[in-house]
Amino acid sequence: MSFVTGLRCVCCGTGYPPRGPMTCPRCGITGILDVEYDYGAIARRLTRRALARREDLTQWRYRELLPIPARASLPGVAVGWSPLRPAPTLARHVGVRALLLKDDGRNPTASLKDRASAVGVVKAVEARAPVIACASTGNAASSLAGMAASLGLTAIIFVPERAPEPKLAQLLIFGARVLRVHGSYAEAWDLCQRSCERWGWYNRNCAVNPYLVEGKKTVSLEICEQLAWRAPDWVAVSVGDGCTLAGTWKGFREMKRLGFLARTPRLLGVQAEGAAPVTEAFRSGKPLRPVEPTTLADSIAVGVPRNWKKAVDAVRESGGTMINVSDEEIQEAMRRTGRLAGVFAEPAAAAAVAGLARGVREGIVAARASALAVITGNGLKDSRSALAAAPRPLDIAPDLDAVAGALRL
Ligand SMILES: Cc1ncc(COP(=O)(O)O)c(C=O)c1O
Ligand SMILES: [Zn+2]
Repeated sequence: MSFVTGLRCVCCGTGYPPRGPMTCPRCGITGILDVEYDYGAIARRLTRRALARREDLTQWRYRELLPIPARASLPGVAVGWSPLRPAPTLARHVGVRALLLKDDGRNPTASLKDRASAVGVVKAVEARAPVIACASTGNAASSLAGMAASLGLTAIIFVPERAPEPKLAQLLIFGARVLRVHGSYAEAWDLCQRSCERWGWYNRNCAVNPYLVEGKKTVSLEICEQLAWRAPDWVAVSVGDGCTLAGTWKGFREMKRLGFLARTPRLLGVQAEGAAPVTEAFRSGKPLRPVEPTTLADSIAVGVPRNWKKAVDAVRESGGTMINVSDEEIQEAMRRTGRLAGVFAEPAAAAAVAGLARGVREGIVAARASALAVITGNGLKDSRSALAAAPRPLDIAPDLDAVAGALRL
């Protein structure tokens, strides 16, 4: 049985039953819904002792907090329970007392999006939809393709023209039907939306599908458990559409509500300077104004974020803030995270580390603070950006003198 009690519009507060609409009919596409649960019943089942006895080291260990029926067929790949490691040398570079990296690039298709897509495919099967579809800058698409393949579902995916090749390769190998839209991400997104309405496909787009964020929140549930129920002072997450940040916050909030956590962390939402409409909305307190995105971090190059309100509300509620970083800072963070912590982050993931470093420089994050950066995607996802950020190899002839010369031995 699922513990979901209903859905509630984040704009007007209207409640709907669990099998209600995808978005609030009163508010239209901006009326994103939030999933509500019977937390009293969950608290009776989901205790520290119960969790300690569970051997399932995947996101499904928190199944009471997920909108899936008890007997649902789950994807056959292990999603979640990614490593959480201290990175002391990187902490010194960033300027904080302690820094942890939650390496979600270690998920089956190498990004945090697997958490959401895994829930998406389970819901598509439940809805008996013939097809599951999404529009994505890359990771949501490749994760959906992988999760759909593992459950034998058909995935149709709309990608913008500039999706990095490794991400495209992933979804083609996973057997998805790929529609490369000659237009922007926003146009690909609208086309997917209209296609789902026209042909009755299940819509995986995170911003409109209320259930997807529920998968993303498992990253915080894990962080709490892996840290023995103590949260760091700051958690940094990069922001494109805003779903990841909103999901991260929901997880922490639920852990507090269920008594697992005494104090929630402050969220640092990080955007790229050239694609920062959510930061702008957070700072101005006004509705979001779309921008023309320009950043090398393709996963957060979102000009028209759909879930900005949930993200802005989450940051405010957490007592945190939004910050922007330049592409140069992102490249620097890619190099440092690789060299000082042994973690290969794609640009959007490294942005979280860059955001913390800037937060310290601007006096937002205290030097005595403990911080965690969510590494949302693996660097192999975008090898071209990695090569652009990295030093060049030393080309040499095949002899020892050349080795000595190149390394100045
Ligand atoms: C690696 C990575 N980091 C961060 C994000 C940002 O997530 P959201 O668009 O939910 O804000 C994404 C989304 O595509 C991503 O793929
Ligand atoms: Zn509404």
